[in-house]
Amino acid sequence: MSTDIHIEEPSTASADSAVAAQRAVAAFQARYGRAPDVCWGAPGRVNLIGEHTDYNDGFVLPFALPHRTVVAASARDDGLLNLTTVGSDGRPQVAEPVRVDELAPGQVTGWAAYPAGVAWVLREEGVPLGGADLVICGDVPTGAGLSSSAALECATALSLLDLAGRPVDAAGEAERPDLTLIARWAQRAENDFVGAPTGVLDQTASLCCTAAHVLFLDVRSGEQIQVPFDTAAHGLRLLVIDTRTRHAHSESGYGERRRGCVAAAEALRVGSLREVTRDGLDAATARLPEELRPLLRHVVTENARVESVVESLRAGRLDTIGPLLTASHESLRDDYRVSSTELDLVVDAALAAGALGARMTGGGFGGSAIALIRSAAQAEIEESIIAAFDERGLAHPRFFMALPSAGAGREEPSTD
Ligand code: GLA
Repeated sequence: MSTDIHIEEPSTASADSAVAAQRAVAAFQARYGRAPDVCWGAPGRVNLIGEHTDYNDGFVLPFALPHRTVVAASARDDGLLNLTTVGSDGRPQVAEPVRVDELAPGQVTGWAAYPAGVAWVLREEGVPLGGADLVICGDVPTGAGLSSSAALECATALSLLDLAGRPVDAAGEAERPDLTLIARWAQRAENDFVGAPTGVLDQTASLCCTAAHVLFLDVRSGEQIQVPFDTAAHGLRLLVIDTRTRHAHSESGYGERRRGCVAAAEALRVGSLREVTRDGLDAATARLPEELRPLLRHVVTENARVESVVESLRAGRLDTIGPLLTASHESLRDDYRVSSTELDLVVDAALAAGALGARMTGGGFGGSAIALIRSAAQAEIEESIIAAFDERGLAHPRFFMALPSAGAGREEPSTD
């Protein structure tokens, strides 16, 4: 997305989402001279651990951010889809109107491809869609590896389903699609309409996470477990550090890694790398060509790390997961090779200044890192990271504290 969205320091999830909803409703009102019929929001996410495992049918452990994308929408009866996004400066960007019944992959580009792709998938799935006016507002940082695209896709899907008479919160509605299915539809919009070969982590996180929890998802079985994640109770914080960098080869690098995993699974004659167990790793490694071995090692050890983190969290030992987070980063840096100079610098500086653990989060090649820190050490750790960037002459990263927040839902605009 090209919209420049300012990162606000979130205090509580509800305050943030009400403000975003109010902005979306006001922007809709300003554009169309009436209130929207519906308003739905969906958050960005941080993945605590379990990176590049989703498209290998493995385990992930994300939580939702308080930052949300809100879509205010009304139905039209002429088949047109009108898309407007409003940046933090209040300036609207209006996409070229498209007809829902003429939508086809490749036809819409830029930020508008995400909501248009969702309308395309819903139409293909037989959801009765006339036209719609959509106004999009939000504060999910873009290009930061925090899932602004999934937030946009999910908020759009929920709004359009509501307009089509199939809202996800309608009790007793037999036709009501579940959140897991909507996550797959949103992923399909991204894969087949936008053309990005991503997994289902981001959309599931945006739709299914709950406040104060991380979500354990077993992608192969679809099993979901909400695991309590209360850093404050342990005197800890999860700091997000957005390096504000995104490397040009991020998309090609992602696709290349994904193809490497498919090739490794084919060579091992398994459906996905998830099938390889920790005990079977050495034997499987020996059967692979040299260049695919590190990919397998990362996926198998990362799945095991997710399980260990879940075990620690369930045993109330949140303060012991730091080394697993750091080991995940080392594996992504050395085996999977999706880190970057800036991400490594953040992780090294945070650890040197006393963080319990730190790692890149999301797809990599730039974007954001996270650090598990003692609350009292926040200022010192931020200063150390800034000093490390100054020393290299690099632009300063941005920091915010991440509070596991609610997943997507209907928005109630604040009335202040
Ligand atoms: C991106 C993709 C996800 C996932 C992560 C890496 O965020 O959208 O599907 O593959 O990268 O874990």
